[in-house]
Amino acid sequence: MPEFVDPKADPMDELRRWLSEATEAGVFNPAAMVLATVSPEGTPSARAMMTRTREGDSITFFTHYESPKGRDLAASSSVEAVFLWTPLERQVRVTGTITKTTVEESDAYWASRPRNTQLAVAAAPQSAPVSDHAELVKAKADFTANIGDGEVPRPQSYGGYRLTPGSFEFWQGRPADRLHLRATYTQAADESWAFQTLAP
Ligand SMILES: Cc1cc2nc3c(=O)[nH]c(=O)nc-3n(C[C@H](O)[C@H](O)[C@H](O)COP(=O)(O)O)c2cc1C
Repeated sequence: MPEFVDPKADPMDELRRWLSEATEAGVFNPAAMVLATVSPEGTPSARAMMTRTREGDSITFFTHYESPKGRDLAASSSVEAVFLWTPLERQVRVTGTITKTTVEESDAYWASRPRNTQLAVAAAPQSAPVSDHAELVKAKADFTANIGDGEVPRPQSYGGYRLTPGSFEFWQGRPADRLHLRATYTQAADESWAFQTLAP
């Protein structure tokens, strides 16, 4: 495993390499990131999110557009996301802007999900208060009974977001001398990436 990142490389390629190395190292859920959004009042909030594709120059994830994060994203498309692979002492921070995936992409992702997942997602709106877990179990059972053997339609309020990065920060721990490796890539107006080493 190379010790750190290549200053001349495309940072999305370096992110994909680190993700592969985390996968090979057996890290659980290596494609999960923590996504931070900000509300119109300026209150930040963060939660884990499974990234589904990391192709080309963007990262996609799927969620509920009317959830708290969806409402934040409707008001401000600026986000920061963090991938953390603790066993490797590695972190990647990504800042960028969010757009919705196309309806076709959201439909294709929805169609790829197991039916049981579709039923759970469709049965109740994400982050809505419920009296207890039994209420959710009943909502799913009722929804399942209503739909019978039919296809589970994608809720209009469920779909994907695409994160297009504007900057990356890679961090690699060095237990031996505590001089951890840290560097940023920041995109310029001409879409080239400027590399900068930082003190840890
Ligand atoms: C490892 C992990 C992966 C997750 N992946 C997703 C995801 O892909 N989509 C999603 O909507 N919620 C996912 N969640 C749940 C979110 O962290 C969060 O609880 C939910 O989206 C509601 O967030 P909100 O109330 O801030 O909108 C995941 C949680 C964990 C722990």
